[in-house]
Formats: sequence, C-alpha cells, structure tokens
Amino acid sequence: MMGKRVYFFGGKGGVGKTTLSSAFSLILAKTKKVLLISTDPAHSLSDLFGSEVGPEAKEVEENLWAVEIDPKKQIEVYIKGAIEAIEGSVSPEVFEQIKEMFHSVEHTPGVEEAAILDALSRIVLKGPFEAFVVDTAPTGHTLAMLRTAGRVGRWLEELIKRKSSAESFREKAGLGRLSRTLEILRERRERFSRFLEVVIRDSLFFPVLNPEKLSIVETERMVEEVTGMGIEITHLFVNKVMPKDVKGDFVERRRSQEKIYMNLIRERFGSFKIVTVEMRPRDVVGMEDLKELAKELEGKL
Ligand SMILES: Nc1ncnc2c1ncn2[C@@H]1O[C@H](COP(=O)(O)OP(=O)(O)O)[C@@H](O)[C@H]1O
Ligand SMILES: [Mg+2]
Repeated sequence: MMGKRVYFFGGKGGVGKTTLSSAFSLILAKTKKVLLISTDPAHSLSDLFGSEVGPEAKEVEENLWAVEIDPKKQIEVYIKGAIEAIEGSVSPEVFEQIKEMFHSVEHTPGVEEAAILDALSRIVLKGPFEAFVVDTAPTGHTLAMLRTAGRVGRWLEELIKRKSSAESFREKAGLGRLSRTLEILRERRERFSRFLEVVIRDSLFFPVLNPEKLSIVETERMVEEVTGMGIEITHLFVNKVMPKDVKGDFVERRRSQEKIYMNLIRERFGSFKIVTVEMRPRDVVGMEDLKELAKELEGKL
C-alpha cells in the first residue's frame, strides 16, 4: 500500500482531504521523496504547513515537497499551447477561427480539468519524486479530470490520424514539411496515455468522508465511478468522528445518530478498510498538528 506511485484523496469540500493528504504525505516522506500536489482552486496548503506554498514545488519538510496547481493559470498555458500547435498548419483565416474557438471554451466545464491534467501529467511523469499525493478539488472535478484523460487521448488520436494523412498528402504533393503540430500532438497524446497508465496501474484512491448522510451518498457515487475506471481503492477515511471520551446530552444524541451512519458506512463500504479519525477540539493547523495527526494515522493504516 505504501509502495504506490500516486495517491489521490477525494471527497466533498470540508471533509478533510487537505488535512489527511498532508498527514499521509508526511508518513510517506519518512521513506521516500514525496511531492504533495493540490489541484483544489481553494488552496490551503500554505495555511496548513505554515509556510508559503505556490506554483513551484517547495520543500516543506525533509523529503516532502508541495505545490499548488493554479487552474486558471493552467488554462491560459494549455490554450496557448494548443493554439501554437495549430498555427502554421492551417490557413490564416481558419487559424483565426480556431483561435476564437479556443478562447471561447476558456470558461466551459472540463477545460479546467484538462488543464490540470496537463500540468499533473507533466509533473508526475518527471523525476525526481518517488511518490505523489494529490489533494484534489471536490468530487465532481476529480472524476471529470480522470475521465478527461481517456477522452483527450481518443480525441488526439483521431486528430493525429487526420493530420498524418493530410501531412503525407502534402508531402507527396511537395507542399511542405511536417509541421511541429504533429510533434506537439504526439507528445501530448503519449504523455496522457502514459499518465493514465500510471494512474490506473500504480495509484490508490482514498475517499474521505464524514459520518453524515450527504457525505455517504456522494462517496457511494465516487467509489462507483473510480472503481469503474479501474482505479484501486483499499481504504476509506471517515474523518471528524465524535471523540469517545466526550460526554453530555447533546453529544450523546449526536453519537447515536453517528452510530447509524457508521453502520451504514460499514454496510456500504465493507470491502474497504475503514479508518476513522476523531474530531479534534481545534482545526489542524501547522506542522506540529500535522505530525501529531500523521502519527495517529500511521498506526491505523
Ligand atoms: N479531525 C479533525 N478534527 C478537527 N478539525 C479538522 C479535522 N479534519 C479536518 N479539520 C478541519 O476542517 C477544515 C476542513 O478540512 P480540510 O482538510 O481543509 O477539508 P477539504 O480539503 O476536504 O476541504 C479545516 O479547517 C481543518 O483544519
Ligand atoms: Mg482542501
């Protein structure tokens, strides 16, 4: 379980993905060089680690590096790359149209995921890290992103096929050299399919949830989709469970409700190891808190 290459943490906003993925990264970093990647637009790694984390990988602890991928910036880079890839291979009029088309999709759903995927695949396939922990954006985005990998691959395949035959026709007709477009498209397709391969073969997905109705329903959906994609799930994190040693009428009532949900979780997700993490009196903030949590977590994995 600790020998995988990529670890994804997914779940609803606020359940504890950032907290648990950070603590988990600390455990991994004891034995290998780890990069913690946040793809959530609402980043919070800086607050959590108590040191500035940004778009460049930064060492936050021995063997542990962290980076935040900015989706907005990635979209700009991604679209710029896509436009460059096409320039010179079509007529100026068509190019203008294509350019307009690309810019018009800048704010449509799916583009953000494709852009994040582009950045993620570059990072993961490159050294020098031995393991990657991905603190993902809330549920929908993550899945869309992973699904995009397959779709983009197929789409590029088709485009390359078409372009190849056009190129060979042009070459035969003496109409010019192989453009850089093909090269760029090939590189991207290659990279995406290699990334998808790594993701499916060499990754684990950790669903994070709270003992609450909505969280359970969402997790069911997420588990189904992730498993359907062939990605392995072995553990499930139930975070913010009522501590055992707290007493009082109110707490007892919450606890009895929680019991029902915990039973439901065991019933629905019985094939996974269910790791429970108690709710703490305060937020988990700073390296000291994180290390404490990591220690607690390590004994439960
Ligand atoms: N076990 C816990 N006990 C107390 N507070 C927690 C616990 N787990 C997470 N938190 C707090 O809950 C908030 C949301 O956690 P976070 O990890 O940012 O969620 P997510 O990344 O899923 O949106 C943070 O303020 C965090 O400190
Ligand atoms: Mg988060």
